[in-house]
Amino acid sequence: MIRTVVAFGAVGAMLVACAPERQVSGRALYMDYCASCHGLEGRGDGPAAAGLGKAPADLTGLAARNGGVFPRVHVMSVIDGYTRRDDRGSVMPELGAALQEGPLVRVDTGNGISTPTPVNLVALANYLERLQE
Ligand code: HEC
Repeated sequence: MIRTVVAFGAVGAMLVACAPERQVSGRALYMDYCASCHGLEGRGDGPAAAGLGKAPADLTGLAARNGGVFPRVHVMSVIDGYTRRDDRGSVMPELGAALQEGPLVRVDTGNGISTPTPVNLVALANYLERLQE
């Protein structure tokens, strides 16, 4: 059964999703793919953090470091690996391929262009937005 979900992001980005009944849990994805480095609460203090050449970012301060606005598009790009393909110094893994399973949802990234985006990526961004302090 197909259901239509309409949600509005903090920056007014509109998201229209046609997703199956199964709920994608951003929190579960975070625990599976991110918490080892970024920590259970997103503060950059996961068990794998110490062995990295670079400290994982404190994900609770993304909005604060961006003038109080949650940088949704930046966050999704970083997770996907899109913004860092040429950055050989980056320690953060490219997780786009791992997160591609599931349907695509249309995300208006604020420039009027609606981009089909993996539902897992959107769920993760929504979860990180809730972690902001
Ligand atoms: C292997 C450890 C590791 C894993 C796993 C990891 N990250 Fe990262 N992440 C980092 C490091 C280190 C940085 C700091 C910048 C860099 O080196 O790329 C970073 C940076 C980031 C940033 C950029 C923060 C900023 O201020 O711009 C975001 C957003 C982020 N990670 C989210 C995630 C999410 C969401 C996941 C899970 C899907 C994840 N990371 C998984 C290590 C990791």
